[in-house]
Amino acid sequence: MGNRKIPAEIEQVLLDETAIQARVRQLGARISADYAEIDDLVLVGVLKGAFIFLSDLARSLTIPHEVDFIALSSYNKGVVSTGAVRLIMDTRSSVTGRNVLIVEDILDTGYTLDYLIRIFQARNPASLRTCVFVSKPDRHQVEVPIDYLGFEVPDEWLVGYGLDYADRFRTLPYIGVLKQEVYE
Ligand code: PRP
Repeated sequence: MGNRKIPAEIEQVLLDETAIQARVRQLGARISADYAEIDDLVLVGVLKGAFIFLSDLARSLTIPHEVDFIALSSYNKGVVSTGAVRLIMDTRSSVTGRNVLIVEDILDTGYTLDYLIRIFQARNPASLRTCVFVSKPDRHQVEVPIDYLGFEVPDEWLVGYGLDYADRFRTLPYIGVLKQEVYE
């Protein structure tokens, strides 16, 4: 789709726009079916990365839902992750007694989602599930449950569809592999 030029920093396209949109529609259909009888679904997108996936996913749902956001940042994020996560902005609405679906663009080490699951569990939601667009199994440091997964991906620096390199490339409609020379 589209005739936009692929930036020179991109080695190759891993997931193109057609594949991404097809997968998002499948996830949206599954979530819509699973929550068909359940009221008060709140999607919590994890900023910044999840805003693209969340907007597509939410619009593919055929059931009522609320959209909210939380913003986190990892300390010393880069090649080595320390696992320390900082809460920058909390959700606007309370999640107590509600059906929460955490929406993430990527599961890398798992520290972020592990932290989120712990803070949301402590708030006593009616249910808590996770929806992750891409997961890097080779990088996981902690085991975290993924209820809805888009794709498993290799351990490469990926950009696009919410994923960035120094805040660049987030809004590419595909997921590409960044050339090694860019981040080395
Ligand atoms: C990315 C991504 C996840 C997290 C996953 O966020 O959006 O939230 O890393 O990594 P982990 O599994 O190793 O914890 P990042 O901290 O890069 O912030 P951003 O979303 O604002 O780019």
